[in-house]
Amino acid sequence: MTSTILLTGATGYIGSHTWLALLAAGFRVVGVDNLSNSSPEVLNRLGRLSGVTPIFERADVCDAAAMSTVFGRHRPDAVVHFAAFKAVGESTAKPLDYYRNNLGGLINTCETMRAQGCRRMVFSSSATVYGVPEHLPLTEGAALAAVNPYGATKLMGETILRDLGASDHAWQTATLRYFNPVGAHPSGLIGEDPRGTPNNLMPYVAQVAVGRRARLQVFGNDYPTPDGTGVRDYIHVMDLADGHVAALNFLLAQPESITVNLGTGCGYSVLALVKAYENASGREVPYDIVSRRPGDVASCYADPALAKEKLNWQAQFDLQRMCEDSWRWQHMNPEGFATPA
Ligand code: NAD
Ligand code: WQD
Repeated sequence: MTSTILLTGATGYIGSHTWLALLAAGFRVVGVDNLSNSSPEVLNRLGRLSGVTPIFERADVCDAAAMSTVFGRHRPDAVVHFAAFKAVGESTAKPLDYYRNNLGGLINTCETMRAQGCRRMVFSSSATVYGVPEHLPLTEGAALAAVNPYGATKLMGETILRDLGASDHAWQTATLRYFNPVGAHPSGLIGEDPRGTPNNLMPYVAQVAVGRRARLQVFGNDYPTPDGTGVRDYIHVMDLADGHVAALNFLLAQPESITVNLGTGCGYSVLALVKAYENASGREVPYDIVSRRPGDVASCYADPALAKEKLNWQAQFDLQRMCEDSWRWQHMNPEGFATPA
């Protein structure tokens, strides 16, 4: 029988790509979002790409009555909980907003699930839970630390799900620690569309390449890395989406919970990414070296072996492909989802 999967934060960057991957894998998908950080145009694009009208409920995951109605209407077999605020800098300025939305939303979603007898959740965690890495590559057993309020919401979210599972073994959770998601669907119809100034490297580089911004600021070139700039594990959002399909298949197949890294295992520097983007786009990406960004670590990359072993999942796409797909999206949609059709 077809399983129904409810996605919270479904019209966001990772949610929209996962939505398509789940449809392609034969699931029935119900999307929920309050559109606080995404555009309704995503739904039109998803309809074009999938050939079916997306099942969408506009609701806030913190709203108990609304979530209860949505669950009662669609009776999901599992939930993928993407809905959260995600800007690290903003979280230090507005910690209460982050705790309320990210933790209030998670708790309310879990309470709604419990009331409706649904106890399978895939949770969007982040490599940020590793704080300042002591050893690389990062395995799931590495020390955990929150270094900003956003990171604290992810670490606390993991703790909530762990305690819930310990209290009632009917709960099954897959905690997925994403490294640095980038890229876009190869159609160029959906992709990352940050509001205001991008906080993350690739969307910033994309906007420089397309001419929306003049120059990139490279935050430090005096790190202990091969070229002095920060090294990260960039992962194609299409691979990440497939990781969610694998995690759901895992939860639906056996009564277990799991916590895994979703990364490639490869680290690339800021300047390596800039070079790859220039190659992919044929555009120059001028940059200035400026001082380090507070809170940044020198290097961060995953050991992805556990995901391979447990989920039979591994990333397929390399940095060049991530840049090519990002560029296709950016070039076709210079103003993101606000670009006139
Ligand atoms: P995104 O902002 O594009 O998507 C999140 C979606 O959640 C948005 O569409 C937003 O409107 C929605 N949302 C927020 N609060 C909500 C609420 N109270 N009720 C209903 N909807 C709400 O972000 P994303 O990059 O797709 O991230 C998805 C998840 O993955 C988040 O939990 C994020 O913390 C996590 N994550 C993201 C990254 C990254 O770099 N993109 C890395 C690690 C983890
Ligand atoms: C990557 C590299 C910067 C922008 C963040 C969150 C993390 C996770 C993913 C959600 C670093 C450098 C960046 C710029 C630059 N999100 N950089 N100029 O910091 O690894 O991770 O997003 O969970 O929690 O912290 O990603 O893309 O911001 O930075 O030089 O304009 O690019 O210093 O070395 P980061 P990023």
